[in-house]
Amino acid sequence: MTNVTLNNGISMPQLGFGVYQIENSDEAVNSVKAALANGYRHIDTAAAYMNEREVGQAIKASGVPREEIFVTTKLWVQDVGYENTKKAFEKSLQRLDLDYIDLYLIHQPYGDVHGSWKAMEELYKDGKIKAIGVSNFSEDRLMDLIAFNEITPAVNQIEVNVFHQRDDLDQFNKSQGVYTEAWAPFAEGRNNLFENEVLIEIGEKYNKSVAQVISRWLVQRDIIVLAKSVKEERIRQNIDVFDFELTDEDMKRITDLNTDQSQFFDHKDPERIKNISNVKFDI
Ligand SMILES: NC(=O)c1ccc[n+]([C@@H]2O[C@H](COP(=O)([O-])OP(=O)(O)OC[C@H]3O[C@@H](n4cnc5c(N)ncnc54)[C@H](OP(=O)(O)O)[C@@H]3O)[C@@H](O)[C@H]2O)c1
Repeated sequence: MTNVTLNNGISMPQLGFGVYQIENSDEAVNSVKAALANGYRHIDTAAAYMNEREVGQAIKASGVPREEIFVTTKLWVQDVGYENTKKAFEKSLQRLDLDYIDLYLIHQPYGDVHGSWKAMEELYKDGKIKAIGVSNFSEDRLMDLIAFNEITPAVNQIEVNVFHQRDDLDQFNKSQGVYTEAWAPFAEGRNNLFENEVLIEIGEKYNKSVAQVISRWLVQRDIIVLAKSVKEERIRQNIDVFDFELTDEDMKRITDLNTDQSQFFDHKDPERIKNISNVKFDI
C-alpha cells in the first residue's frame, strides 16, 4: 500500500474501502472486518450511508489499533450551516464510537457550505478532525470555498472512472494542492465495465482483473481510490494492486476509453440539486 501526504502533512492510504450501499447491518460489519483483515487501513463512510455504527463496530472488533486506521465520514446536505455541522459531526463521532475522525467531508456542494466549513475549520483546530475536505465540488465551487476561507480542502472526492476520467478537474484540484479521491472507480459496473475488452486484455498481461487494472490506473494518476465490495475474494483482490505497473501505452489505451460522460448524474443539473436538497435521512 502506498500512502499519500495531504496538504496539511497528514498521511493517508491511497486505496480505501468504500461502504456506500452496504445497507444490511451484518453485511456492513462483516465487509469492513474483512477489509481490515485483508490489509485495508482506510475506510470511507458517510452519515448518509446509514452504516457509521457498523463501521465503528467493525473497527472495534478488528483488533487493529484505531490510530492505524484512516476513517472518513461526510456531512449530508440536511445538516449544512455552522451550528448544524457541529451537531452532525458530534453525532457521527457517537455513531462511529470514535473520539476523532481522520477526514471529514462536505458530501455535496449545496446550501450553506461556508457555514459548514467554518465549523469544520474549528473542529480541525480543536484536533477532532485530522483533515477536512469536500466532495462533488466543481472548479468554481472549490475556488469559492478556497478564496473565502482560511483552510484549503485537503481532498475533493469526485466520480472518476474510465468512462468519466475528469482530467481537467483533477488538474485543477492538483493546482490548488487538493488531492482527488475517486468515487465509483468501477462505475458500479455500468456500461459493461467488467466486460470491457481493452481492460481485460491489459489485465491478462499482468494476470490482473479489470478492477485491479482500474485501481492501478488511478494510483498511477496519483489519485486516491475508493473500492467497494461485499465479497471477500473481491475485497482481497481489489487491494492487490501495488505489485505491478501499467506501461505508458496501457495508460494511453485506458485514456482512450474516456467519454467525458458521468455514469450517474451531473452535479450542476438544477433538477438534481433541487431533488438532493430534499433528501433527508433519519440519522
Ligand atoms: N462522495 C460521493 O458522492 C460518493 C458517491 C458514490 C460512492 N462514494 C464512495 O466511493 C466508494 C466506491 O464507489 P461505489 O461503491 O459507488 O462503486 P464502485 O466501487 O465503482 O463499484 C462497486 C461495485 O463493483 C462491484 N465490484 C467490486 N469489486 C469488484 C471486482 N473485483 N470484480 C467485479 N465486481 C466488483 C461491487 O459488487 P460486490 O459488492 O457485489 O462485490 C459493486 O457492485 C463508495 O463505497 C463510497 O465510499 C462516494
